[in-house]
Amino acid sequence: MEKLLNFLNPDQISTNTEDLKTYGQDWTRYYQPNPKAILFPKTTEEVQKIVKWANLNKQKLVVSGGRTGLSGGAVAKDNEMVVSLEKMNQIHALNELDMTIHVEAGVITEALQQHLQEKAYLFPVDFAARGSSHIGGNISTNAGGIKVLRYGLTRDWVSSLTVVTGDGEILKLNQSLVKNATGYDFRHLFIGNEGTLGIITEAEIRFTHPHGDLQSLLLAVPDLDSVMKIFSLFRKHTSLMAFEMFTDIAMNHVAKSTGLPKPLATDAPIYLLVEVEKTTEAAEEDILKCFEVCMEQNLVVDGVMSQSAEQAKIFWRFREDITESLAFATPYKNDVSVKISNVPEFMQAIDAIYKKEYSEFEVVWFGHIGDGNLHISILKPKDMLMDDFIKKCRQSDLALFDTIKKFKGSISAEHGVGLSKKSFLNFTRSEEEIIYMKKIKKVFDPGLILNPGKMFDA
Ligand code: MLT
Ligand code: ZN
Repeated sequence: MEKLLNFLNPDQISTNTEDLKTYGQDWTRYYQPNPKAILFPKTTEEVQKIVKWANLNKQKLVVSGGRTGLSGGAVAKDNEMVVSLEKMNQIHALNELDMTIHVEAGVITEALQQHLQEKAYLFPVDFAARGSSHIGGNISTNAGGIKVLRYGLTRDWVSSLTVVTGDGEILKLNQSLVKNATGYDFRHLFIGNEGTLGIITEAEIRFTHPHGDLQSLLLAVPDLDSVMKIFSLFRKHTSLMAFEMFTDIAMNHVAKSTGLPKPLATDAPIYLLVEVEKTTEAAEEDILKCFEVCMEQNLVVDGVMSQSAEQAKIFWRFREDITESLAFATPYKNDVSVKISNVPEFMQAIDAIYKKEYSEFEVVWFGHIGDGNLHISILKPKDMLMDDFIKKCRQSDLALFDTIKKFKGSISAEHGVGLSKKSFLNFTRSEEEIIYMKKIKKVFDPGLILNPGKMFDA
């Protein structure tokens, strides 16, 4: 192996069994990792050499970042070589005039957030996997998260990209220009490409000024109509940062797995975590007024406003620890979106299907109501075999995705298509679109060596 890839040092190639397992998978646990080797390039040029070598030798490659994906997009199960970008983790110069920072793809999200915070700036794309996910992976999947309603998606923060295409060309895309009206902006093709068109190796990331102090509210809500009324109220009268929902089932799982006492005395079917900016006294009054209106109009059955940053952190644990607290039951995950206005009707329709046809499933809902993104996790019943469980979940997906189609929603809001959702792509994208996707794949990766079998069969 070392001889074949003699442009890499021996410590940049691993065939160690433990590494093959670790780097061959993401957070999904349904696929058996089976890569041939793990490669650790340190520069864009080394990535280019790997890709050229792979084309000559017909070796399939899978790009790997922080491996926090939930759709199998970074799984290597068919003797591929994994290209891990974890050694490309340099944070380079920050440009205060352009408000951009040059990073390598393997920089961990939280490291970039902290780096900018120390310089009194903010990288606002944020989600629970921040401690492991890589910037390159975030760009490849156009990661969303908890602040999308305020700051948008990863796409909105990418100023330029360096990419090694599937046929081994290095492209420098957009050069951090704000305005650039010179034809197709390939940057946006590579954002969300899930490693199928090219390998993102470096990026110029935009940053912004920090926000003011935050106020968090945890609200116990009786029904979905109230959820939407509360959302409307806060969005109109406050400076909303996040508007997250989870059910009592989710809350109970977090309480059980963390040992944290539940923060509210009254139980309710739905909980909301609302985060708002309180920069002025008037803003603080508006927040209080909204809270009062919720109480007066019985939109909430209980609620509490955080009295300190520590208390707010605990509220957030009830939202951000959900994924981990469900891990014991190997959940089958869906990550869908509909228009915000369709959320209640859509949720009711799906809930009715699960209750009627799949009553043996424990279904946990949570999500980013503020942008219409809902996470649905089905927990594996203890006595059900994994294969039977997956089969049944796949069957239930048909009803779910049919309903998504009716609502003109998306089968994947932020986790990507990867392996898990590829056979359902046509529920959200038209036949014509998929044909064009396949043509584009062949333009940038004519040897079809990058991330084979992900997103669609090319
Ligand atoms: C989240 O919102 O917590 C993430 O998308 C992770 C998940 O869905 O499990
Ligand atoms: Zn999410």
